[in-house]
Amino acid sequence: MCRLPPSRRAILSKAALYWRLFRGVVENPRYFTFVLRGGVPDKMARRLAKGEAPPTGTFYPVKLDLRIVYGCNLRCKMCGQWGDTGTYFSYESTKLRRQLDLSVIERVADELVPHGLRYVDLEGGETFLHPQIMDILRGLKSRGLFVKPVTNGTRLDRFAREVVESRIDAIHISLDGDRETNNLVRQADWAYDRTMDGLRALAEERKRAGRRSPLVQINFTMTRHNRHESLRRLCDDLSGQGLADVISVKMSPIWMPQEKGKAYEELMSRHLGIEGGLDSWKGFVEDYSDFEDQAREIASAVKQLKSKGYDFFVDGLPGIDPEDLPRMYTDYEWDLGRSHCPVPYVEPTIEADGNVYPCNLFTDEPVSMGNVNEQPFLDIWFGEKFEAFRSMLRQEGGLLPICNRCCQLTES
Ligand SMILES: C[S@@+](CC[C@H](N)C(=O)[O-])C[C@H]1O[C@@H](n2cnc3c(N)ncnc32)[C@H](O)[C@@H]1O
Ligand code: SF4
Ligand code: SF4
Repeated sequence: MCRLPPSRRAILSKAALYWRLFRGVVENPRYFTFVLRGGVPDKMARRLAKGEAPPTGTFYPVKLDLRIVYGCNLRCKMCGQWGDTGTYFSYESTKLRRQLDLSVIERVADELVPHGLRYVDLEGGETFLHPQIMDILRGLKSRGLFVKPVTNGTRLDRFAREVVESRIDAIHISLDGDRETNNLVRQADWAYDRTMDGLRALAEERKRAGRRSPLVQINFTMTRHNRHESLRRLCDDLSGQGLADVISVKMSPIWMPQEKGKAYEELMSRHLGIEGGLDSWKGFVEDYSDFEDQAREIASAVKQLKSKGYDFFVDGLPGIDPEDLPRMYTDYEWDLGRSHCPVPYVEPTIEADGNVYPCNLFTDEPVSMGNVNEQPFLDIWFGEKFEAFRSMLRQEGGLLPICNRCCQLTES
């Protein structure tokens, strides 16, 4: 039993944590650029805010979001895709079976790397359901990109060795609380244990290979289905096991009032002539205006957990004054001071069926800018449809009615 007083233990454990991260950075300096990745999108947002939109043909994606599969093995309550209000339930089965092909991903990467593409995020659906997932990770890594899959972690144990050997830079694993809460949110009584198996397998493989990468980040998404107590229990459960480098507490879920979705539909009709088929926003309709007290609780929990001396960093998002957190729930109009979305200029999304989108979150076919199974990516990126979308966003002052609680805004 450790006889050191708690304050000494906390200092030692903090020192060990900094040492681990220092070694991680030495091993993989990309951690720095990743942490500072705000760079290009933030600069673009500032330019846009000043009314200095770059002319077509002068800007290229720095980051790609690849939603490589639609399918998922879970049905998490809050998920806009497969949750209680999820919109994927209405997709045709032929569409749901589509998967982004390795050769297409490599072709797009080869088009964009010479123009400055640096980061690729992969997600789904469940990322590790893609039958070519490891080839995709290796293929992107071999092109010198910073590669980060987001996963529910339930299939990770079988891929752990290959993941470490692939030398991908980071992996984000979703856990929404301790065993009981996570399983309640994720609607599967096996989910937590499977994800923990995956985390343990990853830690063993990192140890075996003598590597700190990939950086392991656990994403805890705060919603009305979990509470600060479950975050505290999750941190305690993970403590001292060397399973994670960071726990990122997303203190705001993606949500919107119904009328904002309707306003978005009206705007898309007026500017782009789109009538119908805009359904993805419906997956995120929620009323969180009663969440003031819970917001205070989570802000204070994150503050306490940060100083608890865990062997992982606790990071709270968005990075706003904790005093302002309740307002994020009670005042949807508040844009957190982020007035222009840079995503259509720097970070396109490609979905499993090859469609390319200017917005990471609301990806409905009428808003597809083109399809990479049929056209070179850059023809789409500089195409008329993309330009019309960017122009609409500028005319609307930089944000759409449904933007204010999008993760692109709250986590920037
Ligand atoms: C849609 S999932 C796809 C990847 C993978 N299936 C997973 O769960 O990690 C991507 C991330 O979005 C989070 N998420 C789901 N619903 C959300 C919501 N309403 N607001 C914010 N994040 C949400 C998930 O917890 C996960 O971390
Ligand atoms: S695992 Fe991910 S994609 Fe699947 S339902 Fe949960 S949040 Fe949605
Ligand atoms: S919802 Fe808005 S803030 Fe989010 S990516 Fe789309 S345009 Fe940008």
